Amino acid sequence: MRNDFSDRVEKAVKSIRKVTDAKPKIGLILGSGLAEISEKLDGIEIPYSQIEGFPEPSVAGHKGLLKIGENTVTLAGRFHFYEGWTMDEVVLPTALLHGLGVEILIVTNAAGAVNKSFSPGNIVLLNDHINLMGTNPLIGPNNDKMGARFPDMSNPYTPELRTIVKKIAAKTLSNPSDFKEGVYAAFTGPSYESPAEIKMARIIGADLAGMSTVPEVIVANWLGMKVIGLSCATNMAAGILDQPLNHEEVVETGKKVQNDMVELIMGIVQELNSK
Ligand code: HPA
Repeated sequence: MRNDFSDRVEKAVKSIRKVTDAKPKIGLILGSGLAEISEKLDGIEIPYSQIEGFPEPSVAGHKGLLKIGENTVTLAGRFHFYEGWTMDEVVLPTALLHGLGVEILIVTNAAGAVNKSFSPGNIVLLNDHINLMGTNPLIGPNNDKMGARFPDMSNPYTPELRTIVKKIAAKTLSNPSDFKEGVYAAFTGPSYESPAEIKMARIIGADLAGMSTVPEVIVANWLGMKVIGLSCATNMAAGILDQPLNHEEVVETGKKVQNDMVELIMGIVQELNSK
């Protein structure tokens, strides 16, 4: 993280404050094929182009739009490390949410199922992660005002919130057996993993493989935010089925699960706001 990171965050926060004083407690970062969730949540839309220092995301299935209301602020469109963004850029949206007053971060993503008992279309509550990106967003000088040099990662996904999510999933999902819990392994991409890499991920304890989320979750923990991680298992990871992987399938499955994901997230938001 560069020395100017906090200035960058401040400038982004100011861009939003020109439009609204809203201080929602819940922030959402939406992954591939899940961007439409923001349509179900109230708020004012601010395109990333109006946020100082924010790049424009480029991947299909990701648009660059912030939507901020009373209760939630949603970011549709991520900056992935594999697109060539620096780690500072990858985690800028997370720090912006914190700067706007968000206390609970809900991160969603599309991921490949490493656990053979999972199926495409499952929604998976993250209970831990493995960082296989070979880097860390906090490398570099530490801004002690933002967080500790060596932040604790004993509970990257807040246990009390996981309990709440499980309760809501059991109530809201059309088929509660499609709901799972697991460990997310983050690879850099953009190539999908090889079968041997997925086998390794399984052996070291991963249930899912993806190309995002972990940098954001590390920074959210560093900043003292509570975190909920939800993956949509869009495909069986490499080497499980005798068929190639493709991005279209990932986006398609994400879309199919979107309704269930919306129901679940709306349930979570409602529950958290009633506390
Ligand atoms: N691997 C990595 N990232 C992914 C996958 C996968 O199989 N599916 C969706 N995102």
